[in-house]
Amino acid sequence: LERTFLAIKPDGVQRKLVGEIIRRFETKGFTLVGLKILNVSRELAEQHYDVHKERPFFAGLVEFITSGPVVAMVWEGEGVVSSARKIIGATNPLAAEPGTIRGDFGINIGRNLIHGSDAIETAQREIALWFKEEEIANWEPTLMAWTRE
Ligand code: GTP
Ligand code: MG
Repeated sequence: LERTFLAIKPDGVQRKLVGEIIRRFETKGFTLVGLKILNVSRELAEQHYDVHKERPFFAGLVEFITSGPVVAMVWEGEGVVSSARKIIGATNPLAAEPGTIRGDFGINIGRNLIHGSDAIETAQREIALWFKEEEIANWEPTLMAWTRE
């Protein structure tokens, strides 16, 4: 089954939005299989945002991600990678649609609350980077029959 990597950034944790954010993916019907809170090392932050290393905002982004605890998660379900990106909303919260996480709670591109993998291959890379195999719980909700035909 498809999996994605989501991380509530330090602004989301500091603003006490963890429960609200998790609720949105849970009630949508996705399954939480990995969850931890951690202070991110510079090394992990730089690896995670490696694709952006030449961008002008890279240093600030790494500084921000390492500035406080992050809630790292793995979610599972049919189409979860692209669906999670829709639930999260556009990168710039001012452009993000109301009803999305960034659209409802953010105003600044550098404080956009949550990260979500942008493709299935990216998700695989990010899950392997953030989680050990034994930190992921393989389980299938018994309610599955009511969210899937
Ligand atoms: P992530 O899920 O965090 O990867 O966001 P995204 O996929 O919507 O955006 P992208 O991967 O292009 O950029 C990664 C992160 O860098 C964004 O979430 C922003 O926090 C930050 N970022 C991107 N573009 C800019 C920018 O132009 N200025 C600033 N300050 N930050 C930016
Ligand atoms: Mg991205």
